[in-house]
Amino acid sequence: MSSETNEFRKQGKEMVDNIARYIDTIEERPPLAQVEPGYLSKLIPNAAPQKPDKWEDIMKDVEKVIMPGVSHWQSPNFHSYYEAGHSCPSILGDMLSDGIGCLGFSWIASPACTELETIVVDWLGKAIGLPEEFLTEGSGKGGGVIQGSASEATLFSLLAAKMKTIRQVLEREPDKDQYDVLPKMIAYTSDQAHASVERAALMGSIRMRILPSDDQHAMRGDTLKKIIEEDKAKGLLPFFVCATLGTTGCCSFDNLQELGEICEKENIWMHVDAAYAGTAFLCPEFRYLLKGVNYATSFNFNPHKMMRVNFDCSALWVKDEDDLVHAFYIDPTYLKHKHQGAVKDFRHWQIPFGRRFRSLKLWFVLRMFGIEQLQSHVRKQVQLAHDFEKLVLSDSRFEIVNRIVLGLVCIRLKESDELNNALLEKINASGKIHMLSSDLKGKAVLRFAICGASTENKHIQYAWNVIRSIADNLLSTQ
Ligand SMILES: Cc1ncc(COP(=O)(O)O)c(C=O)c1O
Repeated sequence: MSSETNEFRKQGKEMVDNIARYIDTIEERPPLAQVEPGYLSKLIPNAAPQKPDKWEDIMKDVEKVIMPGVSHWQSPNFHSYYEAGHSCPSILGDMLSDGIGCLGFSWIASPACTELETIVVDWLGKAIGLPEEFLTEGSGKGGGVIQGSASEATLFSLLAAKMKTIRQVLEREPDKDQYDVLPKMIAYTSDQAHASVERAALMGSIRMRILPSDDQHAMRGDTLKKIIEEDKAKGLLPFFVCATLGTTGCCSFDNLQELGEICEKENIWMHVDAAYAGTAFLCPEFRYLLKGVNYATSFNFNPHKMMRVNFDCSALWVKDEDDLVHAFYIDPTYLKHKHQGAVKDFRHWQIPFGRRFRSLKLWFVLRMFGIEQLQSHVRKQVQLAHDFEKLVLSDSRFEIVNRIVLGLVCIRLKESDELNNALLEKINASGKIHMLSSDLKGKAVLRFAICGASTENKHIQYAWNVIRSIADNLLSTQ
């Protein structure tokens, strides 16, 4: 036994105890770090040590210098962004992945890495009710892969759609090359899509139109149809639509049925970004929101949001794996192996070559909770959002500005934007709870998201009391 593993046995046990203590007492910590930029460089040396530091000293520093600068996303008083997946089964799965330390860019590089991923992503697809065309075990060429993030999944889908469209045009018009086609290509998304969608277009050098959403903040078919007609009349080539289920700003849902019918008719790749909302489809009662998903070319959601899986774990499915594999096929000698072609080599399904054994944490979560406990988690988060909704509705100074479907409530004082911004600033400065601002159709709103897995009704009540008393003070000085 090496001295490194000997130490690891002892330190590892201490670390697990430490993490368990951190989780059990997280409520005592402020949800938003209360430090100023540059705080850390004043507390740690400006060069790495030449000789090993002591484990005990490192652990003391974690509490002394690191924790003050950590925002505690798992605190039940953290109501910002969207839930960041977290659970002990997931941490254990990641520990094992790090312990094994393999890189599964091709099947042969670590067969279990590719095979477990293929199987659990199929499990997941079935569990959220995706059409069987997206599954590896389905009768077609479908399949799924784990990407690092929804942003990556959108970018990769957009780039794959671009290459597919170029291939199709060049087959019809062989005298052209891709640089004749590219300037004509155009993609679409809505004004409620996550910023990563617009950024994917920037990264892919693709022209993208941002379409106005309707009064329920949904992208609708008639808007898309009209703009496509206009663009085609200008000689442009529509090829990609990114629809969102569960938008970041207000958790609205694009109308997949309407958009999908148009995309099918126009031979457009429809990518569905369900980063946050995807987990909810574990529960059959939310699957009405998936209507029209059969038209999607690719579908993505983040188990690393509401599904209790730690970052990073973003599942992407396609109906035809060739769309991804042929997009950027490179086959260097040093990565060839004898089973090539008969097995999946996931490096073709993503941007980097190297990839971690991420399916382990997903497998652990699915097995140690089972679908039923994950469904209960979703239902609890949604119920808490409705509990909060009731409290807000009891105060006539406030209004709710989104339709509450999952764990997000957007509120505002029926006052100016300035006052709403001041309210948010004071809430976050209080260190008691943490919320985020958004703007909906030009109006400032405060997003209240149900995040931590340990959040209960008493925390919702607490948060409301904090918001209300800060609003009391603010309004009394007006
Ligand atoms: C709808 C939506 N899409 C994409 C993202 C980006 O997710 P990721 O951090 O996995 O790239 C988010 C993040 O909250 C989101 O809400």
